[in-house]
Parts: sequence; C-alpha cells; structure tokens
Amino acid sequence: MMQEPQTEPRQNISSPSQQPAPRKLYVKSFGCQMNVYDSQRMADTLAKEGFIETQDPADADLVILNTCHIREKAAEKVYSELGRLRKSKQEQGSDTMIAVAGCVAQAEGAEIMRRAPVVDLVVGPQSYHRLPELLRQARAGERVVDTEFPTEDKFDHLPAPSARATRKRGPAAFVTVQEGCDKFCTFCVVPYTRGAEVSRDVAKILSETRQLLAQGVREITLIGQNVNGFHGLGPDGKVWGLARMLEALAELDGLERLRYTTSHPRDMDDDLIRAHRDLPQLMPYLHLPVQSGSDRILRAMNRKHGREMFFDIIARMREARPDIALSSDFIVGFPGETDADFEDTMDLVRRIGFASAYSFKYSPRPGTPAAEHDQQVPEEVKTARLAELQKALEASKAAFDASCRGRTFDILLEKPGRQSGQLIGRSPYLQSVVVNDPPAGIGELLTVTITDVGPNSLAGRAVAAAEPIRLYQPARMEA
Ligand code: SAH
Ligand code: SF4
Ligand code: F3S
Repeated sequence: MMQEPQTEPRQNISSPSQQPAPRKLYVKSFGCQMNVYDSQRMADTLAKEGFIETQDPADADLVILNTCHIREKAAEKVYSELGRLRKSKQEQGSDTMIAVAGCVAQAEGAEIMRRAPVVDLVVGPQSYHRLPELLRQARAGERVVDTEFPTEDKFDHLPAPSARATRKRGPAAFVTVQEGCDKFCTFCVVPYTRGAEVSRDVAKILSETRQLLAQGVREITLIGQNVNGFHGLGPDGKVWGLARMLEALAELDGLERLRYTTSHPRDMDDDLIRAHRDLPQLMPYLHLPVQSGSDRILRAMNRKHGREMFFDIIARMREARPDIALSSDFIVGFPGETDADFEDTMDLVRRIGFASAYSFKYSPRPGTPAAEHDQQVPEEVKTARLAELQKALEASKAAFDASCRGRTFDILLEKPGRQSGQLIGRSPYLQSVVVNDPPAGIGELLTVTITDVGPNSLAGRAVAAAEPIRLYQPARMEA
C-alpha cells in the first residue's frame, strides 16, 4: 500500500483568523510526459508558497498552462484555452493570474504577450525554479517573460514533492534524467524549445528515486527527450550510460518496475539491450519512435538510422527479451514523401507488429529545415495516408491486446475503478486492467489472468497461488 503521509506541521489552532486562506493553483498540461513531470515540479514549488491544487480553473488564484509546440494544432490550443480563460475571468470579474509555461512559452513568449493581454507571466522550461520570484513581479503589476536558459541547474532549486502530493499522484512516478536534444531531426522543434542535451548527475537521480520509493512509489519511468542518450556523471566520477543507471536503480529496495521513454533508435546500444535481458524490473515494453519506413525519408528527416537498422534493433531486443512489446511514433506526409515511401512505412508496420503507436500528419514548424522544403505534401494526401496507417496500427494493437487474453502477468494497482470494489492497474505493457474485488490494494502488484479484452482496457482475475501460468508466445517478425 502507499504509505500514509508524514505528519503535517502543527497548525496554530488558537488563532485561525490569522491563517491566510490558501491560494489555489490550477495547472493544465499539454504534450509529453516531460510536461507532466514539470507541472508536478511547479506545483511542488508553489506548494511551498502556500498554493494548493484545484481541479477547477474558475476556482483558481493562479492558472498555469504548460504548453506543447510540437505540432501546429498543439501550439494553437493554448490560444483557444486563453480565450476561454479571458471570457470566464470577465464573467466572474475575478483577478485570477494566468501564466503560460512550456514549449510554446519558450518558442513564442513575446507573441503570446502580444496576442493574449490576459497573460500575466510567460515562463520557459528552464526557469521553473524562478516561479515564486516571477510571480511576485507579476503580482506587482509587471507582465513578465522569462525564457532564458540560465546557467544554474533548475533541478537543484525545485523542491521535492510532499508525501501527500506523491500519494495523490499514485504509485507510478516519472523522474527526469535528461533534457533537451542535439539530434535536430529536420521536422522537430524540441532542440529549439528544450535546448541542448543535458543529463542529470546519477547521484541526484538516485536520491530523487529513493525519496519517491520511501513515499510509496513502486514504478519509476525515467524520462528525457532522448532518454537513451543519457550520459550522466556517475558517483565514481565516470560518465554513466542509461544501462548502467538502470542497473543501479534496479538495486533500490522497493522499486518493482522500471521504464524509460523516449528513446532514439541510434542510441539503443548493446548495454541497454542486455539490460532488458538481465533486469527483471525493466518492463518488457519499449517505445521506440521510427517516424518512417522509407530510407529516403529517414535521410531527409536527418534521423541517422535506416529501416534495416530499426529491424536489426527489434530483432536483437526480441532475442534479449522474448516477451517484449513495441510501440512507436510515425509521421506521414513529410515533404517529398511519395506513395512508394509511404508503402515502405506500411510494410514496416506490418512486419513489426506494434502493440501500440502514435501517428501524426507532418506539421511544418517555424524555424525547422523541413518547413522550408518546396515539396510539401497536400493536406488531402496526408489525411488519406494517416487514415490508412492508423487503420493498420489499430489492427496491430487489437491483435496484441487479443493475444493477452488468457495470459498471466503482474499488474500494478493504481486507482479505483468506476464500480465499487474495482481497482485499475497497469500491465507490463501499460494496458489498463480492471479487476473486481482484488485481494490487494493501490500501490501493490497483483498477479492476474486476463479474462476479457475491450477497446480501451482489459479485465483480469486475481490468480490463486497454485494455478498454472500460461506463458507468452511472442509474434515472430515476418522474414
Ligand atoms: N524524442 C522523440 C520524439 C519527441 S516528439 C524522438 O526522437 O522520436 C514526439 C513525436 O511527435 C515524434 O516522435 C514525432 O512522431 C512527432 N512529431 C515531432 N515533430 C512533428 C512535426 N513537425 N509534425 C508532426 N509530428 C511531429
Ligand atoms: Fe525531436 Fe529528433 Fe530530438 Fe526526437 S531526436 S526530440 S524527434 S529532434
Ligand atoms: Fe511538446 Fe515540448 Fe514535449 S514541444 S512534446 S511539450 S518537449
């Protein structure tokens, strides 16, 4: 079970009128897991300033939109959200402060200030530790923009979560180990919004993880824009890669499950593949974005890997960990993509058999090389290709889910289900599994047999100790 929160500091109950009412914070996160993690760190920082979180923006003294710039649609969301906030502020006559954080803040801070007078504060991802000071400035009436890449390490200044906050977030937690990207894929804004690749020191990652484990966390996902490019300073003064760090984490008491995301195929080295063979805590599930199945397009994307290299990595991963399942990201309609290129992507999808995947239409991003390309693919072609690809990916996911029926594996119980007595846990493959009246509680691992497979979740039944366990026969890659 998750541990009870540590005793909170004693309140001065003799003079309650002197207690200032707590201020309320509403944070909305868009985009990737890094933003989810950062939103938690911002909430932890502001908790120290007396803010408590609310789920209702209308009730908040401070609203933070933690934004994503990866595709045009994602970036435009912030302006529609700001429009809604402006309207509700006017209707209520409230003085709610509004801050924009994240990658849109970094990429177009000044533009946000110009387009949205309702915004009081713009803060880029490297400046979150400065939030309390920036808020004081904003409260004094300034409109503040901080999108610097400061020299100090923000992680040294961001407070850890309280036991109560960790308990509310559940037994699976993220830990950022690496931020930024030096790979400059020609379609991508991340190197510009998150800056150069930086890895945190191993000692700091271990200590953050130990604290989370002491607060009841059982599963850690290491996150980074290029997480397997991790090269952090180890306690021995040498540079450690991701595999070495996973080994160190696997030795920590109480850590039942490890994951990492997002990886780049170029950085899937032998040590990391071996870690999948040797570390039982490392879940047999890998998100490895490939983007395209065409060598010509991969070259134009500056991915620095071809399709054969991708097949080779997958083959070696399956050899090291036969029950591994794979997930990926795809872009259709990259400039210059022909029907034959797209067919190469479809072929790759059919050959690998992904358990899950994300796929997107190429979206030209300001400042990236591919946006300037003169062979942009027409919108209707992108739409048709995306529909065809998604159909294949959905079929592949459905086939994987169906193959789980009758299988037995551990799930980590994370939250209550919709009906009373139900709990929902996560399988090794991140599927939601609903169990009725489980003989275990939130924060515990439970061995279940999958009895039903639905479109969005699976259902499982707790296994009695002596039942035989049917092992998984993975789908083999077609030649
Ligand atoms: N670091 C990861 C991806 C981060 S962005 C990697 O190297 O793969 C998450 C996903 O968004 C990418 O994998 C890609 O599929 C998609 N994406 C990024 N830029 C895009 C763009 N301009 N248009 C459409 N999709 C994009
Ligand atoms: Fe973007 Fe490529 Fe870096 Fe991934 S590796 S974050 S897709 S530039
Ligand atoms: Fe989006 Fe920034 Fe993440 S652009 S995907 S929030 S790194």
